[in-house]
Amino acid sequence: MENKRLENLFQKMRHGADYNYEQWLDSPEILADDFRLMKQSHSNVMSIGIFSWAMLEPEDGHYDFSWLDRLMDELAANDIGAILATPSAAPPAWLSQKYPETRRMNVLGHREPHKGRQNFCFTSPVYREKVNQINRQLAERYQNHPALLLWHVSNEYGGVQCHCELCYEAFRTWLKNRYGDLNTLNHAWWTTFWSHRYTAWDQIEPVDVSTHGLMLDWQRFTSDQALDFYKAEIVPLRQITPAIPITTNFMRPDVALDYWRFAEHVDVISWDSYPRWHQTDDVVTGMETAFYHDLHRSYKQGLPFLLMESTPSVTNWQGISRVKKPGAHKLTSLQAIAHGSNSVQYFQWRQSRGAWEKFHGAVVSHLNSSDTRVFRDVTQIGESLEKLSAILPSTNKASVAVIYDYENEWALNNAQIPRTLGKKYQITCQHHYAPFWQQGITVDVINARTDLSKYKIVIAPMLYLMGKGLPERIEAFVQAGGVFVTTYVSGMVDDSDLAFLNGYPPALRRTLGLYSEEIDALTDEQQGVLELCEGNDLNLAGSYSFHEYAELIHPETATMIAAYGSEFYAGYPAITVNNYGNGKAYYIAARTDDELLADFYKSLARAENINGALSVDLPKGVTAQVRETENQRFVFLMNFTDQLQMVDLGEAHFTDQLTGSPAADEVTLYPYDIRILSAPIP
Ligand code: GAL
Repeated sequence: MENKRLENLFQKMRHGADYNYEQWLDSPEILADDFRLMKQSHSNVMSIGIFSWAMLEPEDGHYDFSWLDRLMDELAANDIGAILATPSAAPPAWLSQKYPETRRMNVLGHREPHKGRQNFCFTSPVYREKVNQINRQLAERYQNHPALLLWHVSNEYGGVQCHCELCYEAFRTWLKNRYGDLNTLNHAWWTTFWSHRYTAWDQIEPVDVSTHGLMLDWQRFTSDQALDFYKAEIVPLRQITPAIPITTNFMRPDVALDYWRFAEHVDVISWDSYPRWHQTDDVVTGMETAFYHDLHRSYKQGLPFLLMESTPSVTNWQGISRVKKPGAHKLTSLQAIAHGSNSVQYFQWRQSRGAWEKFHGAVVSHLNSSDTRVFRDVTQIGESLEKLSAILPSTNKASVAVIYDYENEWALNNAQIPRTLGKKYQITCQHHYAPFWQQGITVDVINARTDLSKYKIVIAPMLYLMGKGLPERIEAFVQAGGVFVTTYVSGMVDDSDLAFLNGYPPALRRTLGLYSEEIDALTDEQQGVLELCEGNDLNLAGSYSFHEYAELIHPETATMIAAYGSEFYAGYPAITVNNYGNGKAYYIAARTDDELLADFYKSLARAENINGALSVDLPKGVTAQVRETENQRFVFLMNFTDQLQMVDLGEAHFTDQLTGSPAADEVTLYPYDIRILSAPIP
């Protein structure tokens, strides 16, 4: 393991849950049950102390670690690792009362009352100081404790916005560092528009959605400020426990944080995954979840991640939450392993008795019994993970990447383009990812700053914001032999959200071999047709539909693969390719149906000699994902349908990693089934 700090953590596949021991201090019989049941379920980690500040520091400066000492000792005695949290996500009431400036201020200038959690100001020096003090106490006290495995810093940071004077001051300082003077800022934000010019820094208030540059920078700042807070939080941990790894649990990317920047400061990525199984099409939910796992794996390439939270049954916040169908718990838990996780962990170990989450799913429910479907499912995962140690050092290797970029998403969210309704940036990235998932081809989900050179194919749907240097990096990638695919609504603005003049940035225009003139927007009811040109370079034929966006482009050196077949622009190019240097750049000018994307990418993968995990076509809804070491491949064959599916393994001879027996040539997958197959690499 390259990162020495992770050796201990990744000695085994990890299995465990968030454990709220402190809620049961007056019920020793429950606590005794807990440790017995943890062993029974083959759990080997527990995330503890996440929301326990009020129990650790009941009064300002008066700490009580007695219960945590007992908990840490119990865990060690049971050979269960502690993922010990810093408690900053939920300040105690006394703190909010005594230091009101730690409470967040809303956009109208009102302090939020003390309630819920994650309710504090990231800038407040008092809050930072109080967090630093308690984190120091924790690190000093447990630095040599045998249970301490990993720091869980805070909980689910978000780019939440605080409008207090301290945050505004910090924002203005951030702007001064970025722009130097107001003239430069006024130009970057195009403030002559609607008379928005600033003549003093303290006129700047991040409340004006009509100034796009301002809002984009405010979003960047709030993300940076959360990271700055995190960096302050970990100072005592790094000082006192340099050998203990650090993580903070990430979420799906809708929380206004640039996680790529966080990733540089954590030792291991962990994330909380709560898909809505059995509510719509599980194949689509399976694909989306795969996309997010791949995103989290890609934050730190070559390293495994942790599935820090998932529900063993239902959530309590999704509006509708269905219990998992037979097989689904195993499938969805091991899906994370397939995509590069070295753990399956849950929220929560035991259902709390009262308050908000009392009916959220848990390994141990209010029945307090191991004789439940959920407990049996969880135990089965624990047993399975113990048989998967050979997979620990393996990685997922991708030669295809989809760019899904946060700054681009933030800028696009504010963009007033011909179709502002349903821009669907994130979903569009998933639509371009899905054909590879279906074929069992590994994909990294990267951002626009990631080095492109290791990939054969890079796909950048709707890359509206092309930051400084990016067009040149794309050009170099294609010249060196890479295949680049982009779409409508790309290359429109720069880092400041200013439109490019004279069309695309020159490097992009040369690479794509075209320029774009207009974007047509269709209503929800309207659809168009596009026709593949004969003899096109991907051997595609027939017609497909498009909807929502249709761009009118002018090829310069690019050639046509498909033409529009409807509207006044019938005959205009709809898909083009430009042979450039040693590579190719494709442009998909309209939002097409999924069939086109499936056929397009299948043909492209074939042309680029990129193979799926198995050399056979997989039935719809079945995917195969690969992890490999130098001498062994592990193929995770997963059925996200509620139908029985047969997969012919072709010539390959595999061993079933969970049973140790040779796999049949034709594998029968039951509804929601997963099979883990291994074979030596010759
Ligand atoms: C997570 C959070 C947990 C718990 C869980 C419920 O977002 O980190 O503390 O609230 O959701 O699903």
